[in-house]
Order: sequence, then C-alpha cells, then structure tokens
Amino acid sequence: MCVFINFTTTAMLYLKTKITNKIVKSLLLGSVLLLSASMAACLTACQTAQQASDDFQRPAENRKFPRPIVIAHRGASGYLPEHTLEAYIRGMELGADFIEPDLVMTKDGVLVARHENEISETTNVADVFPKRKTTKTIDDVKMAGWFVEDFTLAEIKKLKAKQRLAFRPQMDQQPFLIPTLDEIIDAVDQYNTKTGKSIGIVPEIKHSSYFRSIGVNMEKALLNALEDKKWDKKLDQVYIQSFEVSNLKELATLSKYHLVQLLGDPAESPYDLKGKKTYADMVTLDGLKEIRKYAQVLGPYKKYLVVENAKSEMTLVANDVLKNAKLLDLKIIPYTFRNESFFVMKPLTDPVKEYEFFYKIGVDGVFSDFPDTAVKALKMGNETIN
Ligand code: G3P
Ligand code: CA
Repeated sequence: MCVFINFTTTAMLYLKTKITNKIVKSLLLGSVLLLSASMAACLTACQTAQQASDDFQRPAENRKFPRPIVIAHRGASGYLPEHTLEAYIRGMELGADFIEPDLVMTKDGVLVARHENEISETTNVADVFPKRKTTKTIDDVKMAGWFVEDFTLAEIKKLKAKQRLAFRPQMDQQPFLIPTLDEIIDAVDQYNTKTGKSIGIVPEIKHSSYFRSIGVNMEKALLNALEDKKWDKKLDQVYIQSFEVSNLKELATLSKYHLVQLLGDPAESPYDLKGKKTYADMVTLDGLKEIRKYAQVLGPYKKYLVVENAKSEMTLVANDVLKNAKLLDLKIIPYTFRNESFFVMKPLTDPVKEYEFFYKIGVDGVFSDFPDTAVKALKMGNETIN
C-alpha cells in the first residue's frame, strides 16, 4: 500500500510540473519496479492461500499464540513413565498448555497411547504374555517383539507401563496402565472443568502406512474418537501430528484440525515418500511452501533451526528455516527439550538457557519432557503465564 501511494504521488508531480530531471525519473522508475515486485509477491501469496483453501478444509487462519506454548511430551515423561494417565495429568499440573499422546491401535480397533507399536520396551508384556513374541517388518525394519495390534484392549489392560530410560525414576512398584485415547480425553476434560483451563491435545499418529497395510485407518479412527468426545468443536485445542505426509494431506481434506508436519533425520524420508523426498528437501523454502498447503505447524528436531557447529553460546544463531517458516505463517514447535544435560543442544549446557535461546529466536512452542522447566524459562523471560 505504501509503495502504491508513493508511486501515485510521484506520478502526479511528474504530470503537473512536467519536470524531466533525472532524479524524478529514477524515483518514478524505482517506484514502478517496487510496485510490480510487491504486486507479484501479493499474487503469489494469494495464489498459495487460494490453492490451499481450494484443496483442503483449513481453519480460517493459523491460531495466534501470545507466547510460546508448552507441550507435555508423552506427558510429563521426565518424571513418570511416558504415555500414562499419571504422566499426562502431571504434565497439566506442571503448566503444560497441551499434552502429547502418541497413538497406535489394538487388535479390536481401540486407539491407545504408546510411542511404538512394539511395546516390550515400555511395558511388562514379555512377562505377562511370554509366548506371544513374534517377528514383523515395520516401516522396512525387521524386528522381534510384542506388537500392540496383536492384543485386544482387555489384554493390553493387563499390562503395566514402565519407565523406558534407566536414568529416570523407575517407579516400578506402581500399577501404571496403558491409557486409551478416550481415557486421555476424559482426563483432560476433567482437568479443564476443575481448573477452568483449556488445555489441548497434540495426538501423533504412529506408523500410519504400516497400519494401513494391515487394514487399519488410524486417521479416520482418530477423527471419530474426537467427534465422539465432542472435541470436533474444539479446533484450537487439537493439533494432529505425523512424520508421514500423505495422511496429513488426507486429514486436511477431511477435517479442520490444525496439522503438524514432523521432521525426522534430514537424510531420511517420510515413510510414505521413500525414494522421492527427504526431510532435508522439506525444509527448503519450496519444501516449506508445500507443507504450508496442508499443515499449519512444523515440528522439527531442534537442531533444524540453528546454524551448525557453533563454537560458543554467543555464536549460536538461528538459520533460515525459522525465518522462512514465519514468512509463510507456518508455526514452529521443535522437539524434544529435556533436563538431562546430555540432551541439551551444544554448545548450550543448561536446559533453562536452551529454552531461553529457542524462545528468543521465535519458536511458537516446545515439546518438553519437563513442562515445569519450560514454564520456568518462560517466566524468566517475563512472558505472560496463566
Ligand atoms: O511429536 C513430537 C515428537 O514427539 C516426535 O518425536 O519420537 O518423541 O514421537 P517422538
Ligand atoms: Ca510424539
């Protein structure tokens, strides 16, 4: 708009006085060029937005957050075994704005929270069902174990969830159960009713292509579960994530939930785009434009956002990924923030400083195993916390 006014004023002056000196001519030429460039940029942006709205049922606009949001990653998994109701509730109590269940499906079609469909690392399934071990190939990886899709919900409820990591509190005397998505949503509803908060969920669909290959549509099951719980009316409280792409594109045609494109190792590909596109391709400007057609949020590993090999905290800086994402109104929520020093991104060593750095460069949220530390760092930056 400013460019247009400058152009008009300059042109009128030119006509009125018929001044032909070189300065005015070059001003006029510059204004015309600027106007053309801004019109072209506007057209491209409008075309992109139009194309997106033609293809997908998107939310009217991307949600605005007054400050970075805190997502309790697998619940408050730094303190309690991941993906248990206890861990999710602790996450909410510690100040998370959202909790994050990873989802897989039982033999009888119930969505439950586990990070993998092979469940021996996070449950006592090997003790309870020793004869049910089998071998499968999941996303091209051959593995032996116990797979959630081979067990009914009643069988899954006989298991105890356990701590995955040896250096975290084991709490193996407590009977942590594996929760269903329904139970997780009920827990969030109860907590919100009790506190007046509007905490949301960020469900991640695990192994979408694999489940399709055995006849299971995780996406439709998730949409149905949300609708059954009347969460289809809570669009601002649901962000659906996946490392795959085609399922997110499909969800964009089927629903209005916000969608999160997760990024794995740069050299790897989303399983459904194997041999076609790597995650490194997806963070180029063209790659981000493609993502923005169907998703509102990018969920990269945190190293994606910084210039590599910084020698000191002073020289640690953001790269162009975040800047380009912001140009496209693509929110950025990196993973995973953890208190243990060996998880803190080098050259940083202090987890609070790590959050502060990412808040400063402008991320829109964080996936954290320790939501209280993420909140503490927000408060130190004088962010408004409810
Ligand atoms: O969903 C964000 C982050 O959780 C992705 O990694 O492996 O912990 O599910 P993962
Ligand atoms: Ca996850």
